Amino acid sequence: MERAVNHTTQNLLVTGGAGFIGSNFVHYWLARYPEQRVVVLDALTYAGNRASLAAVESNPRFRFVHGDILDTDLVEQLLAAEQIDTIVHFAAESHVDRSILGPDAFIKTNIEGTHSMLKAARRVWLEQGARPHRFHHVSTDEVYGTLEPDAAAFTEKNQYLPNSPYAASKASSDHIVRSYHHTYGLNTTISNCSNNYGSYQFPEKLIPLVIANCLDGKPLPIYGDGKQIRDWLYVDDHNRGIDLIIHQGKVDQTYNIGGNNEWTNIDIVTLVCELMDQHHPKGAPHLNLLTHVKDRPGHDRRYAIDATRIKAELGYQPMETFETGIRKTVEWYLQNESWWRQVMDGSYQDWLAQNYV
Ligand code: NAD
Ligand code: TYD
Repeated sequence: MERAVNHTTQNLLVTGGAGFIGSNFVHYWLARYPEQRVVVLDALTYAGNRASLAAVESNPRFRFVHGDILDTDLVEQLLAAEQIDTIVHFAAESHVDRSILGPDAFIKTNIEGTHSMLKAARRVWLEQGARPHRFHHVSTDEVYGTLEPDAAAFTEKNQYLPNSPYAASKASSDHIVRSYHHTYGLNTTISNCSNNYGSYQFPEKLIPLVIANCLDGKPLPIYGDGKQIRDWLYVDDHNRGIDLIIHQGKVDQTYNIGGNNEWTNIDIVTLVCELMDQHHPKGAPHLNLLTHVKDRPGHDRRYAIDATRIKAELGYQPMETFETGIRKTVEWYLQNESWWRQVMDGSYQDWLAQNYV
């Protein structure tokens, strides 16, 4: 069945395209739409890695711009010069633990940075002659707070109850995006997605951290009792959801994206260890490395996404099962050891020392 297209894309500006989800999005988009152009704007913070885009660097439909989303003039220039019709806004500080140790960068990048993007979009797309456009803001399920074990999963109607500085900064940016539609008429959409996993994820996040530490025979740190629950989605399934929203989503609509895939942290680590035992028998059983460490302050107990809206309105369905996705992910990290080793530089070692005292 042909679906109604509400927005036609040609030239995309992807912020944070050198990060985990953004780089996967760029690979996905250039392969999926061979006639379209992608410009990445990325400040290359500790989480951004140009090597994640190596495979597309020579593609004439791709351009990398090293710059900051806080630089509104630069964003305006890019929007005009590149005739951008679609912004996909991934750039953010994204790690909860870092937001606990240093919230300032989260307020600056996630709130002020998103506002800077919106100001530039408003100026070029609305004030310098109205033109078809779409501003898609990538957000998180963490804005909804935490769930009791048997509570219903988050729908788009849940109250925003963010608990960490990261979640609060994302919640705030969601509200500012919404206000730019209602006040100025900017065509905006928002997605709130659950925990992603897959290739190119920085090894400070749980799954790649466990894989890397298994290979190095280092402890696998589990916060508190490890019974916290997350709803895991393969990164390409997240990006397919964003694709549907950009093209067919309703302006001013929020869509939750998730895969009905709830796991406790202990079970995830156990599963990854089992896969590592198969692929790297030298260190087996890797589960022996599991170590309980001090819990994260204010640790949200459970996240779960109800994706009924995106399924009903846009026909969304994740394609990867968890079994295939996690296997692919472990294999990717084994085959791309040079990628993750090069990002674990001096500043990463400082981070480990600070977070896992
Ligand atoms: P990431 O930390 O891997 O990447 C963030 C990217 O943004 C990096 O390339 C970094 O260099 C860039 N960046 C940071 N500050 C910038 C600035 N001021 N100007 C330009 N670029 C800047 O993050 P991720 O995991 O890929 O997450 C991407 C987005 O998706 C974020 O907005 C995050 O809140 C959201 N999200 C992530 C998850 C997840 O599980 N990772 C789940 C739901 C939503
Ligand atoms: P993380 O990957 O940081 O994502 P988020 O905090 O955004 O959900 O963490 C996923 C879960 O794993 C979360 O409940 C915290 C837990 N965790 C650990 O138990 N140990 C660790 O070393 C890390 C990084 C996370």
